[in-house]
Amino acid sequence: MIRRPIPIHEHRTVTGTIRLEGVYKIFGEQPRGRALELARAGATKGEVQALTDHVVGLADVNFSVNEGELFVVMGLSGSGKSTAIRTVNKLHSVTDGHVWVGDTDIQALTGAALQKFRRERIGMVFQHFALFPHWNVLDNVGYGLEVQGVDRHQREQRALEALDLVGLKAYAASMPGQLSGGMQQRVGLARALAADPEILLMDEAFSALDPLIRRQMQDEMIAIQRKLRKTILFITHDLNEALRLGDRVCIMRGGRVVQIGTPEEILTEPATGYVAEFVQDVDQGRVITVSDVMVEPRPVEPGSTLRSAVRAIGERTGSFLLDGAGHPVGVLTSADGIRALDDGETELSGAVRSDFDRASPTQTLNEVYSAAGRGLPIAVVDADGVLVGNLDPQDIMAELGRVESLIDGFEREVFL
Ligand SMILES: Nc1ncnc2c1ncn2[C@@H]1O[C@H](COP(=O)(O)OP(=O)(O)OP(=O)(O)O)[C@@H](O)[C@H]1O
Ligand SMILES: [Mg+2]
Repeated sequence: MIRRPIPIHEHRTVTGTIRLEGVYKIFGEQPRGRALELARAGATKGEVQALTDHVVGLADVNFSVNEGELFVVMGLSGSGKSTAIRTVNKLHSVTDGHVWVGDTDIQALTGAALQKFRRERIGMVFQHFALFPHWNVLDNVGYGLEVQGVDRHQREQRALEALDLVGLKAYAASMPGQLSGGMQQRVGLARALAADPEILLMDEAFSALDPLIRRQMQDEMIAIQRKLRKTILFITHDLNEALRLGDRVCIMRGGRVVQIGTPEEILTEPATGYVAEFVQDVDQGRVITVSDVMVEPRPVEPGSTLRSAVRAIGERTGSFLLDGAGHPVGVLTSADGIRALDDGETELSGAVRSDFDRASPTQTLNEVYSAAGRGLPIAVVDADGVLVGNLDPQDIMAELGRVESLIDGFEREVFL
């Protein structure tokens, strides 16, 4: 199922809506000089740079993020994504054009009013989120509230609620150094959420995480957004992430907006050759790969009884048995195990089979589709044959079902 976009009100000012109107950002000695003139006349970033030695950060950028919408800006490195997001809280002043949040003209904000706006209306999460190393998780999450002058009791209450949202309530008393990278990033998200801002700005918030954790974070983000319906401006260079998260996606190139559309529109009706190429480049072998869908391996514990091994499988289809070097040598499915137990079997060896399939993390789901049809878990192995993931056929089917029309449209329109 593809989520439907929020209805568009491009020309209406709505509280909680972000709007960039004709925004230019030129970097250099004389930003309002010839460089701006050239950019206005349609010169490319490269041309402006060659002629004036000024860098075009943004050129004629227009987009609006509707209330409760998760809007993704995607583009290659240097395309202007971070510059765009920074105009929203005035970390950058614009060279020309207007930035609105609701009916607040961001360019007009200064001093205490700007500070208040940033603290109360905006939450930010970055790629390398800096937590205070000597403060525990709860205090880190409550930091923004402390700055706002919220009293300790209320602060802790709200920090705990935010931690609960990101699944880290149990870690309130831990120190940041005791958490994994993914958990720290979640604490960052909790900090942004604790102040209950109307707007979240997220710049490559998940980009430093390894694929498995990243994918979990994306799922959690979708779940949190379903609950909170924040207005979110989310930056990524990863098409897969953009398609997965975005109600709408905006593709940028050389400081300009190339296309804005729903994920389906981007894939099935690429506005220019560039979008098609970009989509194709980023996409091949990447729209949905095995590593996007696999879960952590959780192999059968050595020395398990059949009964304890079946119990450990839980909701999954099955788990692998490993040799001493971490290579999968057999698979125990829940169904096989239960059947064997019913037959009075107690030994693991009585229910384990060795006719399972292997896949590499970089293969696409299409490539492993027929193997998934057997209904057995697929062993995801690295170049040395070591088990790195468990690919559940049910997850493959669910994932393909969800994006089926995207992939179909994508292959039809872009590859053929
Ligand atoms: N403070 C600055 N001074 C000069 N040039 C800048 C500055 N900030 C950004 N730029 C330039 O503006 C352009 C857009 O940069 P921006 O950081 O927005 O890119 P990005 O799309 O976020 O890239 P990435 O994916 O690498 O983060 C780049 O050419 C960059 O060199
Ligand atoms: Mg950036």
